[in-house]
Amino acid sequence: MPEIAACAADELAPNEVLQVFVDGRAPIALYNLDGQFFATDDTCTHGDASLAEGDIEDGEIICPFHMGAFDIRTGEATAPPCVSPITCYPVRVEDGTVYIEVDS
Ligand code: FES
Repeated sequence: MPEIAACAADELAPNEVLQVFVDGRAPIALYNLDGQFFATDDTCTHGDASLAEGDIEDGEIICPFHMGAFDIRTGEATAPPCVSPITCYPVRVEDGTVYIEVDS
């Protein structure tokens, strides 16, 4: 799978989320959970909302449209009206840069 350089690790403060645009595919949401980075689909599975515009609470991202939620570590839907999970992507940090492994 291709890997993209998403941002500098110090660009994303703890418990913040960033929308990452990737050529040829839907955007990805990149999270800093207490210093550990995670990536998921940015688009909610319930509607056309950007999860990067939501809030992080206790390891979950709260959708800004109808307050559904997903576990950031697993992608599991954790609060209605969300039912279907979001996809998670592997993340690594090297030399201060955050890389996300994306599907094509
Ligand atoms: S669009 Fe996300 S909860 Fe409805």
